Amino acid sequence: MIAKTTRRLALAGLLALGLASPAAAQGFPTKPLTLIVPFAAGGPSDVIARLLADHMGRTLGQQVVVENIAGAGGTAGAKRLAASDADGHTLLIHHLALAAAPSLYNNLGYDTQTAFAPVGLVNTGPMVVAGKLALPPVDAKAFFPFAKLQADKLTIAHAGIGSNAHLCAVLLSQALGAKFTQVAYRGTGPAMNDLVAGQVDVLCDQSTTAVPQVQGDKVRAYAVTSTERLGVLPNTPTAREAGTDLEMTIWHGLYAPKATPVAALDKLNGALKAALKDPVVLERFKSVGTSAFPEAEWSRDAHAKRFGSEISKWAASLKAAGVTPQNVN
Ligand code: MLT
Repeated sequence: MIAKTTRRLALAGLLALGLASPAAAQGFPTKPLTLIVPFAAGGPSDVIARLLADHMGRTLGQQVVVENIAGAGGTAGAKRLAASDADGHTLLIHHLALAAAPSLYNNLGYDTQTAFAPVGLVNTGPMVVAGKLALPPVDAKAFFPFAKLQADKLTIAHAGIGSNAHLCAVLLSQALGAKFTQVAYRGTGPAMNDLVAGQVDVLCDQSTTAVPQVQGDKVRAYAVTSTERLGVLPNTPTAREAGTDLEMTIWHGLYAPKATPVAALDKLNGALKAALKDPVVLERFKSVGTSAFPEAEWSRDAHAKRFGSEISKWAASLKAAGVTPQNVN
């Protein structure tokens, strides 16, 4: 009897410390998981999410179902995660826009600093400045001066305020000292479809979805925003090589609601690591010009550290750029 009471007290103590959890006790995961993608299907976040969902589902022994909850630059999906049960069965994939959002929006409906538990960093890579095939410039040398002179007549697509494509469009405008007409979509999946169809002129998209369209001759790549050329687009210069001061690196991470038990977070981090170790996943990443983070950054702590520093970084740089937060529609 005393032993039983002691065990119960010990478990209560561990639970209070977050070192054990009901999820662990019940053999997490106990049902299919949901992975929220905060942008439209067919875009770069969706592509990475589906690759992970398949692999992590096999590791965890439960299906991981992708749900696209798009809108407001990725904040609608983040809001959904913040309001989800903190049992580890609902996750979010998101990128730097999650960290930039509190500096761009007033009424997010969640507190970015306290709403999320980082599960692990996923991938990092550059953007590709792409144009519709009918645009007159055929290379970066011709494109940047053309864009500078003609910006007011050119449309640039993005995935909502704060999305990577939007931040890249803003950086490009700053670098050229020119203002494009922005067209917002619910993700760069549909934005890329419209670029291919010639409905918009320019899209700065993640390499994940830009590379296949460039290789299929559906759009033209003018420049990559990395410091080095991409192995999969060897003939496309970096923006700097082409004389334009534009550099941008994106990253995705996985998140759970803040109060998710530590045991579930650790199991999810383990399943993510298994995916990132798989040569098939790494080859898929490589084929679209993106990479996993170095293994030293696969821990939950490394992700939390990066997330915290990116929130501060974007707060400072957006304030310096004179950006004032707007209301989420
Ligand atoms: C998407 O999946 O549509 C993108 O991640 C959007 C973006 O941030 O550019």
